[in-house]
Amino acid sequence: MDSKELRSLFLNYFQEKGHKIVASSSLIPDDDTVLFTTAGMQQFAPYLSSQKNVLEKFQTRHLCSCQKCFRTDDIEEIGDDTHQTFFEMLGNWSIGQDQAGYFKEGAIKYALDFLVNKLGLVKDKFHITIFKGNSFIPKDEEAKEIWERHGITHFHEFGEADNFWGPVSNVGPCGPCSEIHYDRGEEYGCKDCGPNCDYCKRFVEIWNLVFMEYFKNEKGEYEKLKQTNIDTGIGFERLLAILNKENSAYETDLFSDLIKEIEKHATLKYKDDKIAYRIIADHLRGSSFLIGENILPSNTERGYILRRLLRRIIRYARIIDLDLNSIDRLIKVIILKYHHIYPELNQENIVNIFNIEKQKFARTLEKGLKEIEKLTEITPRQAFFLYQTFGFPIEMIKEEANKKGIEIDEKGFKEELKKHQEISRKGAEKKFGKNASEKEIKLHTATHLMHQALRDVLGESVQQMGSSINNERLRFDFSYTKKLSQEQIKEIEDIVNQRIKNGFKVIKEEMSLEKALATGALAFFKEKYKEVVNVYTIKNNNEIYSKEICAGPHIKSSENLGTFKILKESSSGANTRRIRAVIN
Ligand code: SER
Repeated sequence: MDSKELRSLFLNYFQEKGHKIVASSSLIPDDDTVLFTTAGMQQFAPYLSSQKNVLEKFQTRHLCSCQKCFRTDDIEEIGDDTHQTFFEMLGNWSIGQDQAGYFKEGAIKYALDFLVNKLGLVKDKFHITIFKGNSFIPKDEEAKEIWERHGITHFHEFGEADNFWGPVSNVGPCGPCSEIHYDRGEEYGCKDCGPNCDYCKRFVEIWNLVFMEYFKNEKGEYEKLKQTNIDTGIGFERLLAILNKENSAYETDLFSDLIKEIEKHATLKYKDDKIAYRIIADHLRGSSFLIGENILPSNTERGYILRRLLRRIIRYARIIDLDLNSIDRLIKVIILKYHHIYPELNQENIVNIFNIEKQKFARTLEKGLKEIEKLTEITPRQAFFLYQTFGFPIEMIKEEANKKGIEIDEKGFKEELKKHQEISRKGAEKKFGKNASEKEIKLHTATHLMHQALRDVLGESVQQMGSSINNERLRFDFSYTKKLSQEQIKEIEDIVNQRIKNGFKVIKEEMSLEKALATGALAFFKEKYKEVVNVYTIKNNNEIYSKEICAGPHIKSSENLGTFKILKESSSGANTRRIRAVIN
């Protein structure tokens, strides 16, 4: 089965069952707190939470789509069997319930009917995950009972991490889910494991059915929605691979024509370096779709992602000796594959943008090569520096080093890379993130203001040593040798409150670490950061008050931030002070 056929089979099936086919929305979502569209439900979020009336807009509660999606978390994993930056998601929705609506029973019935009767998959290979419940939502016995009634026998229970979906950003509709995983058989992994196995890829998730009946509010609480909804999503690439009994989407028609075309213009063949081929193929497709959204290469946000993809194509092209003058031929294959449903892809435009970036990157590479020229040995740390600063892949560093007769400790480099990734992951998980409440977010912004005020009052030697925020207070540790006087404390409070009163906005920008540091953003524990970081700037029309590298989240403006007050200042170890403060 090819991709075109699967897309139509899915959409036609749901159309026959009374669903309206809705065109994919843009890769750039309306909700500007997220970079890209990563799920089919995003365009329907206001209807799922009943802020907007679904019947007025679509004249039906039942919708289906094939949605363009883009994920950036796993760029380094591209090349293995399962990761892609751009992908498509098939989904069906029942938004709100009346006599004609459906909920768990209907969603399960349709999913099984489509997979078994339309696609010919064997029901006994399905393993179903069930939400096991938490302190406020009970175990989903209802879903389990329905699956059982439909002849399913393999079940696995999971908690919030695996079996509760959404919201996409901090706030929005969400709910427990039940996933269909497909068992590819023992030969693909462990003898005795199940879905979400840490060790193997025997089980592949093919369909996620979300029973969307909660709303996560700004305080981080889950409220029951006025209506129940069904939101489902199939990873299109994955399902296509399974239907074709392939290990990976890279072996399906979505990529195989492109890979064949690349082979025509390269010295190494696909079998010689699958990883490089897959990276090039994924990034060519991904960047074509980003350009299709009128995104241009730049150093921030979406433009930075596009720049990164284009530069990685160029680097990996060197590894397989791909002639980049053939770019128009490669893009043409992508256009042929997708143009019938995504007419926004324009060959000339994509090729032009690619070529301009190629020239720019050539200049950066030249600088990096000069850097290597100066070195007489390349330690793992230096290799990592080249990798991070100039974007050299290790293969290229090796190639250049070999020309000079220098050996590279590749294992050492990989350890360095892993260390870096682990630290940045820990950094990201540590404090805030998706689950911060509104109060915590406010205290977080107040922390940035106070941090700058401390530096203004006590001097630039003040460095952040630690920070912790809960719903009541902020706590901030910083380097300083003396106890603060009452006057100093008052001055710090006044500075922060004055800024709040004057009115400011918090602007978030995504940029390379290099650029963030160059523009003077505060950053401590430098090694914790990733290549691309968020910089939060607090400013008003007259003044840029604070600029810090930070994972967020933050409030958008000082309206309603409240009054800042320091409760306590004390010692917290040698040459370290601790402040506890609140906003009311
Ligand atoms: N929103 C769910 C997902 O993205 C189902 O569509 O997996």
